[in-house]
Amino acid sequence: MNQIKSKGVVPWQSPSNIAIVKYWGKHGSQLPKNPSFSLTLSAAYTRTTARFIIHQTEQKNNVSVSLDGAEQPAFIPKITQFLDRVSDDYPFLNRIELHLETHNSFPHSSGIASSASAMSALALIIADIGGRSGDLQEISRISRLGSGSASRSIFPYGSIWGVSNEVPGSSDYFGIGMEDRMHPVFKTFCDAILIVKSGEKAVSSTAGHGLMASHPFAETRYANARNRLSHLTKALETGDVATFGEICEKEALELHALMMCSDPPYILMEPKTLEMIQCVLKFRKASGIPMYFTLDAGPNLHLLYPVENRNKVSDFIQKELIQYCENGKWIDDAVGTGPNKIMQS
Ligand code: DP6
Repeated sequence: MNQIKSKGVVPWQSPSNIAIVKYWGKHGSQLPKNPSFSLTLSAAYTRTTARFIIHQTEQKNNVSVSLDGAEQPAFIPKITQFLDRVSDDYPFLNRIELHLETHNSFPHSSGIASSASAMSALALIIADIGGRSGDLQEISRISRLGSGSASRSIFPYGSIWGVSNEVPGSSDYFGIGMEDRMHPVFKTFCDAILIVKSGEKAVSSTAGHGLMASHPFAETRYANARNRLSHLTKALETGDVATFGEICEKEALELHALMMCSDPPYILMEPKTLEMIQCVLKFRKASGIPMYFTLDAGPNLHLLYPVENRNKVSDFIQKELIQYCENGKWIDDAVGTGPNKIMQS
C-alpha cells in the first residue's frame, strides 16, 4: 500500500444502478446467491466529502455523517460495520477520525438504490485514502462489503456481479465492467424513475435477502436468475432490446412475487405502481415504443428505453404517468459512465 496521508479531504461522486437481473439472496460475507446485472445510472448519485485525520492511537467509532447539512446518527451503524469489515485490509481505519458530508440527488430510502451509490462512494473514499483509487476490482470488492449492489456502481455503463459460466472473469467477490460486451444501444439507454413514494421502506433490502434463506421458492429463483443472466448477456452483446425488455419485466415481477410469498409475506408495491404498469403495457402496445418497466425493492417504477424515444416517452409520462407520482416527481435518468472524483474549487 502507498504512503497514507495523515489528514485530508477526499470527495467522490458515485452513481446508483438499476438491476435488470436482480441480486436477491446472499450468504457468507456478502456473497450473492445468483449473478446479477445492472445498468450504471448518471442523474441518481451520491456525493460524499470525507474529512479525515489518521491518529497515532486507536479510535473507537470516531465517525460522523451528515446528509445535506443535517447530522444522521442513524447512518452510523451501517458505516462502522462497513469500516470494521474492511479494516483488516485497510488497518489505518482503526485509527481514523472520519467526518462525512453527503448529498443524494434523489430521496433517501425511496427504493432507489441509495445504498449502492452511498456505499460505493464511501468505498471509493477509503480506497483513495489507502492509495488504491485506480483499482476498480478492489473498489468493487470493498463496495460489496458495504452493500451488495454497490459492487456494480463502480463501472461505466453496466456491470455483472456474481459468477456466471458465460462471463469469463465474473466473480462472487467483485463486480466486473461490461462495457466491452454491451451493444451501443444499451450504453445510451434511458431510465425514467417515477417516484411513487419517497418515505422509508417498511422492509429493508437486507431483511428481504434474509428471508430468502428459508424461502420455499429459493432454488427455483436462483436457477431462473442464472438462466436469465445467460440470455441477457447475449442480448446485451447483440443489441436485442426486446429480449432485454422481456427479461427486465419478468425479473421485476418475480422479485415482488418473492416478497409476497416470503414468510412473513410483505408488499412493497403500491396500487399506483400497478396502475402505472398497466398504463405502460397499454402504451407500448399502442405505440410500438420499446419501453420496459422494472422495480427495485420499493414502489417506484423505472422505465427503460432506447434514447431515440426520449421525447415521446417524456410526453407519455407528462400526459399519463405524472398523476401517479408523488408531487409529480420523476427523474429523467440515463446510463452513465461511473464514479468521479469531485474537483474542489
Ligand atoms: C432489489 O444491495 O441493497 O435492489 O447487500 O443487503 O445492502 P445489501 O442489499 P442491496 O440489495 C439490492 C437488491 C435489489 C436488486 C439489485 O440491486 O440487484
